[in-house]
Amino acid sequence: MSVKRSALEAAGKSYREEGISRRVRGIAVSAIKEMPLLAEKVPGCVSLGQGIPSFRTPEHIVEAVCRSLRQDPWIGKYSLGPGLPALRRALAESLREERGLELDPDREVCITVGAMEGLCAAMLTLVDRGDEVLLPSPNYASHIEQVLLAEGRPVFSPLRRQDWGLDPEAIRAKVSDRTKALVLCSPHNPTGAVFSREALRAVADLALEKGFFVLCDETYDFLTYEGEAPFSLLNVPELKRQVLGFFSFSKKYAMTGWRVGAVVGDGELLDQIMKVHDAAAICAPTPSQMAALAALEGPQDCVQEFRRILEARRDRVCRRLDAMARWVSYVKPKGAYYLMVRTHSLAEDSMTVALRLLHEARVITIPGAAFGPDGEGHIRLSFGGSEEELDEAMDRLEAWFRKNG
Ligand SMILES: Cc1ncc(COP(=O)(O)O)c(C=O)c1O
Repeated sequence: MSVKRSALEAAGKSYREEGISRRVRGIAVSAIKEMPLLAEKVPGCVSLGQGIPSFRTPEHIVEAVCRSLRQDPWIGKYSLGPGLPALRRALAESLREERGLELDPDREVCITVGAMEGLCAAMLTLVDRGDEVLLPSPNYASHIEQVLLAEGRPVFSPLRRQDWGLDPEAIRAKVSDRTKALVLCSPHNPTGAVFSREALRAVADLALEKGFFVLCDETYDFLTYEGEAPFSLLNVPELKRQVLGFFSFSKKYAMTGWRVGAVVGDGELLDQIMKVHDAAAICAPTPSQMAALAALEGPQDCVQEFRRILEARRDRVCRRLDAMARWVSYVKPKGAYYLMVRTHSLAEDSMTVALRLLHEARVITIPGAAFGPDGEGHIRLSFGGSEEELDEAMDRLEAWFRKNG
């Protein structure tokens, strides 16, 4: 029996169970990916769903790949498993400059098929059946499925409700003899929170005291709206042997479809993770690695520009939500491009609300329950879409709440 109700199941889809492993029966395609599948059957939808920025991959990246495809005989072939040496060197250099990380590109940087494959490979490498993995809740839906795929047990630790801040004491209360790892993501999907240095320091002390691994999902590390770059446990030298970082080119360079990311950390740990990477992927696509290299070596103003535009989109969506305060409330995001909207005027669960919004308002949102128990009562909105899309979606949401809220 599958243990969770997915959006597709809620909409009437049934899954074959006979002959399917317990591991796979126990997981679901995340609602983030299911809602667009359902929306295919609803004409004229606008999306506040999956976190896909509206931007095109910058021209200099596209050009560099086109040139390589024509000129470089190796680009259509497998790369080394851990990735193109030039890309590993460029990433190590960029992480030194931007994040103050000292990494050996030969031993401590491996290129993966997006941050996602790195996270999944790490989870399969570290987690045995019954091991517990701490997840601040709400949290990115796929982290939950990755723990379950490794036959681990997700243990949810609530974020502070007033600002979605990290709560080190709540995490401490959930640590047990079976705690194997903690997953952190800051700037945070789905809330847009940026966890404070003090809270992260306290969690670093806890990880050192208890000896569990920390998986830092750095997908949105470039995207904070207020002040400094986010602090990360990757910057705590004492944790070096028990912390891994997962980086992504998807959002920073508008490259979600290229599927390229990286895992960084202790070389001996990466050697083990690379066994899973080899079994699952062999290597990240070489043309995409070439694109990532061009992204790192090229001008960085596109990143500044994305940040400026997304900040304006955040403010645009927040103004519209403020006008809907009778029905909804939210915490203004400090990073990433998501917010969790509490649907306080509605009694229905978040899956029902998201399905109703899809069919009745033709707006794609993600049910908060997909992000762990503390996401219930919310829907997640992404403001990565264009201004026209956002305005149309907010018009529809407002009209729907006026009628049903
Ligand atoms: C928190 C988080 N981690 C990982 C990913 C996946 O990143 P990638 O496209 O690099 O696999 C996403 C994508 O939305 C994300 O939000």
